[in-house]
Amino acid sequence: MTNIDDGETSPAPRTPKNPAADDPPRAVDWDAEAPAFDDEPDHGLREPVVREAWAARLRDWLPRRPSDVLDLGCGTGSLSLLATEQGHRVIGVDSSPAMVALARAKLAGRPAVFLVGDAAAPPVGEERFDVILVRHVLWTLPDPGRVLRRWCGLLRPGGTSHAFSSGGGRLVLVEGVWGTVSPVGIPAERLYGLLAPLVSDAELVRLGDDPLLWGREVEDERYALVAHL
Ligand SMILES: C[S@@+](CC[C@H](N)C(=O)[O-])C[C@H]1O[C@@H](n2cnc3c(N)ncnc32)[C@H](O)[C@@H]1O
Repeated sequence: MTNIDDGETSPAPRTPKNPAADDPPRAVDWDAEAPAFDDEPDHGLREPVVREAWAARLRDWLPRRPSDVLDLGCGTGSLSLLATEQGHRVIGVDSSPAMVALARAKLAGRPAVFLVGDAAAPPVGEERFDVILVRHVLWTLPDPGRVLRRWCGLLRPGGTSHAFSSGGGRLVLVEGVWGTVSPVGIPAERLYGLLAPLVSDAELVRLGDDPLLWGREVEDERYALVAHL
């Protein structure tokens, strides 16, 4: 992954160098990024300790019962794969056909479907989900508040008669702020403020102090917000 600022050592989700503070992130060519995307430890989850660190977090964050998970901006499907290994069914959506092709190959034979589409308006029709899982994507989308409202509308409401659902759906959002000179991302407090009015509860989990998740020590802000309708 590419460092976002000269002199900084903190790999971040791919972004142009030195964006102004209020600039929206400019387009990244995710098709071009796809072939080497899994080379980063926290992307490909190839190292067993990193893989297990994410698997353990997902066990905490996802329902215990087999559930329907919508992985938005799924990339090469690394988290989707962990979710299926834990018994869940996955639909992954990514705007990059190259990422989707890699995800399809990675999860061949598993209960997973991958679609090319916009995470901000997922092409899932009337389908509703127990979990919307999003890692390192929301911060790149214009108007995240509007996107969150849309995502909440894709979750199963509480008290549904769906065979697997006893409670309402949940959002699992893994985000951060990368870099210190010209940071990019979305601070936890901002995301919490956007999310709190839409959900019944939201738990902030700090992830920056767990080097196993990243394959190294990190100094910037990393977190997950796990929220229930
Ligand atoms: C930093 S990668 C994260 C991939 C994956 N979530 C993970 O954690 O490994 C960002 C991903 O979001 C996808 N993406 C960016 N904007 C998108 C959009 N508007 N709709 C769908 N996917 C998008 C990119 O193609 C890329 O695969």
